[in-house]
This record gives sequence, C-alpha cells and structure tokens, in this order.
Amino acid sequence: MSAPVSGAIDLSGRRALVSGAARGIGRAAALALAREGADVACLDILDCAETAGLIQEMGRQALAIETDVRSPEEVSAGVGQVLDAWGGVDILVSSHGILGSSRTPLPELDLEEWDRVQEVNLRGAFLLLKAVWPAMQAQGGGKVVFLGSIAGRIGGVLAGPHYCGSKGGVHALAKWAAKNGAAHGILVNTIAPGPIATPMIAGEPYRPDMSPLGRLGEPEDIAEAVVFLASQASNYITGIVLDVNGGILMA
Ligand SMILES: NC(=O)c1ccc[n+]([C@@H]2O[C@H](COP(=O)([O-])OP(=O)(O)OC[C@H]3O[C@@H](n4cnc5c(N)ncnc54)[C@H](O)[C@@H]3O)[C@@H](O)[C@H]2O)c1
Repeated sequence: MSAPVSGAIDLSGRRALVSGAARGIGRAAALALAREGADVACLDILDCAETAGLIQEMGRQALAIETDVRSPEEVSAGVGQVLDAWGGVDILVSSHGILGSSRTPLPELDLEEWDRVQEVNLRGAFLLLKAVWPAMQAQGGGKVVFLGSIAGRIGGVLAGPHYCGSKGGVHALAKWAAKNGAAHGILVNTIAPGPIATPMIAGEPYRPDMSPLGRLGEPEDIAEAVVFLASQASNYITGIVLDVNGGILMA
C-alpha cells in the first residue's frame, strides 16, 4: 500500500468482497463502500439480492453470491466468481457471524454448539482469507477488515464462551495476516464492535445505558470504520483492533 493521498476517501474502481452482506453490519458496510465508489460482491448464506440491488442503484457493480463460509468448496467457488468477473479483490470485509446460545451455563454447553460457532466465525474467516490471499499477493496488495468483537477483547458483555473464543481467534488470525501480509502490501485490521442493533442481538438483554454514549451502536457506526480501514486514509495502519463501542471499553 502506498503513502496516503490527501483529500476525501475515494474507493472508485476498488473491488470489494463483503461476507455477511445480506443484513446487519455486512449490509451496511457493503452499502458504505459502494457509496465511496467501490464495486461490491455481497456474499452470504442468505440471499444478498436486496443489498446488491441497492449498490447497483448507486451506479456501482454488484454481485450477489450465496455461499456458506464453513465450506472450503463454496468459499473457493464464491471468491472464484468474483475473480472471474473483476480480475481481483482489493478489499475483503469478513462480517459473517453467529452468536450462538449466549445464556447456556458452561457445564451444559455441548461440543456441537462450541463447534458450530467456531466453524462459522473462525473457520469461515480463515477460509475467506485463504481464498483471497493469492489474488491480493499477485496484484501487489489489498485491505482486509475482519469483524471481531468486544467479546474477543474482554470476554464478552453478555456473549457466551464459544462466541468469545471464536472472536479472540479472529483477532489473532488477523494479526498473523497483518504480519505476513505486510511484505505483499496486504494490510489487515480488525474492528471490535460493542453491542450493535442488528438481528444478531435481537432478543438479547443489551441496554442503551451500557454504553457511556447512552445508545447501542447502529450498523452504520461500524460501516464508517470499515470504510476508513478499507481506504487510503489508513495506509499506515495494519494489525490493529479498532474498538467501536460507544465507550464501553476504553483501552
Ligand atoms: N451485532 C453485534 O452486537 C456485534 C457485536 C460485535 C461483533 N459483531 C460481529 O459483526 C459481524 C456482523 O454481525 P451482525 O451484527 O451484522 O449480525 P447479523 O446476524 O445481522 O449478520 C450476520 C450475517 O452473517 C451471515 N452468516 C451467518 N452464517 C453464515 C455462513 N455460514 N455463511 C455465510 N454467511 C453467514 C448471516 O446470514 C447474516 O447475514 C459478525 O462477525 C459479528 O460477530 C456483531
């Protein structure tokens, strides 16, 4: 990645791939990247047609790719579809995820539930990174943004041990990738959101007064941080965990 360019953020011509783009943070990130000029491939186990349609209405290119991030074959085919269409990937945003059961007492938390959360959150993040890595290397660089969590930093606000463990794993995977990607111009950072009002936490007892700013985060609060870490404005930042949590954690 080259030195910063002064002026507004401009992602024109950048090819982005966003997982979890059907809803929540991934959807907001995909739309914000497109707003700044990027073409966006929207990948999810759910149908991403709505997100892709909104991106096309902005005059950008969009792909809607139905992929289960747990499957190496599906991830490889999904990323392959983007590479065939656009010839490369400049920005990867890994925003898929599941919370798992957050109130099961540890003695009753079975291995199936532990594995289910690791397979989506950590294995899925690894498979996406692995699939875009050769293309980013070949093209001389790229930007990767992982969605970690405050849960991976402080053991959760209300989340369970399986979710916390998976997100700690994502933070560490991102640091490995930042160290090993730097020589290839691949910059890798993690965003650690606090509670954000998305379907993931619907029904969970998070309260606005848990944050010093007096509200839960909105998906757009995270999307703007994604834009920053995907853009030329952050060309000297790699390997960080950016806390976006309304002040719940001040580290
Ligand atoms: N909402 C929060 O409070 C919060 C806090 C911290 C971190 N995060 C993280 O932010 C990211 C986005 O979460 P969100 O709040 O938008 O949740 P969400 O549930 O609204 O969206 C998650 C998306 O991931 C997709 N997904 C789930 N399993 C998948 C699979 N196997 N393959 C492909 N896609 C799959 C879902 O279909 C969904 O579209 C996640 O990594 C989450 O862990 C969320």
